[in-house]
Amino acid sequence: MPHNMRAGIVGVGVGIPDMVITNRDLEQRLDTTDEWIVTRTGIRERRIAPPEIATSDLAAQAALQALRDAGKRAEEVDLIVVATATPDMPWPSTACLVQAKIGAVRAAAFDLNAVCSGFVYALWMAAQAVQTGAYRCVLVIGADILSRQVNWEDRSTCVLFGDGAGAVVLAPVEEPYGILSGVLGADGTGVPLLNIPAGGTREPLSTEALAQNRHTIHMRGREVFKFAVTIMGEVSVQALEKAGIRPEQVDLFIPHQANIRIIQAAAERLNLPMERVFVNVERYGNTSAASIPIALYEAHVQGHLKRGDLVVVVGFGAGLTWGACVIRWAY
Ligand code: ACO
Repeated sequence: MPHNMRAGIVGVGVGIPDMVITNRDLEQRLDTTDEWIVTRTGIRERRIAPPEIATSDLAAQAALQALRDAGKRAEEVDLIVVATATPDMPWPSTACLVQAKIGAVRAAAFDLNAVCSGFVYALWMAAQAVQTGAYRCVLVIGADILSRQVNWEDRSTCVLFGDGAGAVVLAPVEEPYGILSGVLGADGTGVPLLNIPAGGTREPLSTEALAQNRHTIHMRGREVFKFAVTIMGEVSVQALEKAGIRPEQVDLFIPHQANIRIIQAAAERLNLPMERVFVNVERYGNTSAASIPIALYEAHVQGHLKRGDLVVVVGFGAGLTWGACVIRWAY
């Protein structure tokens, strides 16, 4: 690829389940209140996928919409990366299921798991693939159905999560547009803070594991919160420095939608007014790898993004993992 080209986002799409579960609905079955959930997290409602829908279904819906938006056919796609922690099945990859569903017959396909940071990880890795000229039309999808991994009797986790998928199409775009920089990081010593103990090779599923809910999300919420408020700002600053952009130049900040207080802390670190921060956590909760591409899609359709805008996407998640990209919006 010539030097004056970069990887850029040229289409966006979503796959969002219809069913809404409000905080009031949760009050009926848990010892919780709408007031507690809203003040601690900012979440008012979340979407939940019905039993017949799997992650690849939402992902394929998002992918087809993103391709339509980009004016591209499925046959043109040469790589599909699905960021997910909730695959349809242990293997093969959800990306292969999506490839078949959308008819992307020429595409290579694989999954990437960085939990809630997965979309940023996939975006930055796929940007390298486009930047080198190796791939020309890449689908980057963030898709998760965390409602199947939460313990619905654990009020400290189940109120936080929702289901969904978002997709972007990456293709070569001319400078100065496209993905300007990315920073990714991990700290595996943080595994005990947030994990699903059973269901893998360490502790295969057993009736005992099921009885103890060890196949569901285990989280030390306060410690994850502390990590998140620091890292979201830090990694954004690092990605901005790498791109040679000052925080005040940022037109739209699109953080992982986990908790409004974490989002506000990150915005404060960058000294950004909340008008320049995209927030939809109140309607979806934490949709894991889907949260940033869903937010990108909504920002686009609501007219918050115009060609040339400087956008920062930033996420954190289990692992622990984190990542940020700086983008000059290409369309
Ligand atoms: N309703 C009512 N009370 C509750 C609820 C609930 N849903 N959940 C917990 N509580 C109680 C707790 O039991 C605790 O009671 P206690 O003091 O009597 O023990 C009390 O509320 C306060 O709990 P804290 O943990 O201090 O509450 P905090 O202000 O830290 O908020 C929260 C908890 C919202 C979980 C916060 O810590 C947080 O957002 N952490 C980050 C979580 C996150 O973003 N995880 C996703 C990571 S992304 C990924 O990769 C999956």
